[in-house]
Formats: sequence, C-alpha cells, structure tokens
Amino acid sequence: MLTLTKRYPFSAAHRLWNDALSPEENQKLYGPCINIHGHNYTVEVTVAGKPSPETGMIIDIVALDALVKRCILSAVDHRYLDVDVPFLQGKLSTVENVAQAFYQRLVAEIPPAVKLYRVRVFESEQNWAEVSQEENLQHA
Ligand code: NI
Repeated sequence: MLTLTKRYPFSAAHRLWNDALSPEENQKLYGPCINIHGHNYTVEVTVAGKPSPETGMIIDIVALDALVKRCILSAVDHRYLDVDVPFLQGKLSTVENVAQAFYQRLVAEIPPAVKLYRVRVFESEQNWAEVSQEENLQHA
C-alpha cells in the first residue's frame, strides 16, 4: 500500500469536564485537566491510493491543505474547543474524541478516488490518538 502523510500544527484551549459528574468526581477523574489550558496540537492526515499518472501524486497536496484548513484548522486553531467549535459540542474534548471528530469531518469531504487511511491527533509529543480506516469500518 502506498500512503502519503502530512502534519498540520494548531493551537487550542480546552478543559475536561463532564457535567454528569460532581465537581469532586471530575477532579478525581481528570485532575488538573478540569482547568482551562492549552495544547500545541498536531493533526496528521494519511491518505492511501495510487499516484495519478499525470501528477505522480495520490492527492493534490494543495487540495489536501485546503481541505484540512476548511474542515478542521479554520474551526479549531486558536479556539476554545469546548465552546467555539460546533462539531465538538456535547463531546468531552479528549484527544480520542477530537481525533474521531476530525476523521468524520475529513472522510465526508475527501475526494472519492482517495482513501482517508488514518488521522492522528497529537496533544503533545507524548500522547496522541489515531483513527484508521480499518477501525472506522469495524464500527460502521
Ligand atoms: Ni489537555
């Protein structure tokens, strides 16, 4: 299989807080993450497919940049994820949930000839979540 990967950095604020739980339970579960804080995130997008005989590319990289900007970066960069981002409303902004939301945004818009193979969201260099095509199909 041939894949192409590109990483896009963005910065955003968030907090982890479940309204269904008491303040004490939230504190116990999420610790300092109950307070508003920020991350320098990276979203990593991997596509799979065959290179076009004309361009040598799986996807026009300029088109991929524009897609990621329109579907994700324009909504989340320098925003408060829990308040400012419509497609994250009602979700706990864990990196797992953010990665799933990003995958859904992109898979709906990617050109039909291109497979969205994997989306990774890095909250830091130490932790990230990823959604792959296989994972998505298993739960479809
Ligand atoms: Ni955090």
